[in-house]
Amino acid sequence: MAKKHEPPVPQDMMPKHIAIIMDGNGRWAKKRGMPRTYGHVQGALAFRKLLRYANDIGIKYISFYAFSTENWKRPDDEVHALMDLMRKYLKEAYDHFDLRTRFVLLGDEDGFESDLRQQFIDIQKDTDDFEKMTAGIAANYGSRHEITSAVKQIAQQVKSGALQLEDITEDLISQHLYTKDMPDVDLMIRPGGEQRISNFLLWQCAYAEFYFCDTLWPDFDSKELDKAIVEFAKRTRRFGGL
Ligand code: IPE
Ligand code: IPE
Ligand code: MG
Repeated sequence: MAKKHEPPVPQDMMPKHIAIIMDGNGRWAKKRGMPRTYGHVQGALAFRKLLRYANDIGIKYISFYAFSTENWKRPDDEVHALMDLMRKYLKEAYDHFDLRTRFVLLGDEDGFESDLRQQFIDIQKDTDDFEKMTAGIAANYGSRHEITSAVKQIAQQVKSGALQLEDITEDLISQHLYTKDMPDVDLMIRPGGEQRISNFLLWQCAYAEFYFCDTLWPDFDSKELDKAIVEFAKRTRRFGGL
């Protein structure tokens, strides 16, 4: 596929892994006198456009926060609408095979109804060989839940004698997270005006650069992503050194 867009900064200054908290759908809809679910429909369209754009400019890893472990607290009709949107977009993912993108579920698949769970299993299997880009879809995701289940798995292996205490390293812990095949986050973007992390990729963001903006997610487009990347390229990262 011919390249349609140039990256906003030289390739070697681009973040390898971008994580995005897709926030502000409800407020976007409310401003227009529409139901919150309409905001989610528009937010899903923004997701689709941005996925293609990120792929086009050569982003290698991108993670989207779609539904948190805490979002189950919302009213049933909103949760249902969000699950149906996921069903629709997972079906549609097969139309985006030209992107050579591997989809990875970041989250606990056991929380979904069985058909949706199966859709997640299938799309991961069917895109597993793609190497152009990896897209993490964080659904039923919570960082504390992720770390807790990593701790449990490791404790089980110590208990059974398969692992020694000395074998527990930072790398080993990373290998037990949903992001095990992805590098740490370089750039964390939160549109929607809130300046918080809401239980997203706490471990993986240890040295991420943060970018917040007021644009509500359905309005977050390629120009907004370019702005975040340009800002990222200006930052000096020290990782504790000088
Ligand atoms: C983000 O938009 C989508 C999800 C959390 C599923 P919100 O639904 O949180 O929208 P606001 O923040 O209420 O505007
Ligand atoms: C974070 O947004 C979760 C997703 C975008 C999926 P929320 O709207 O749930 O976060 P809070 O409640 O404002 O912290
Ligand atoms: Mg929100």
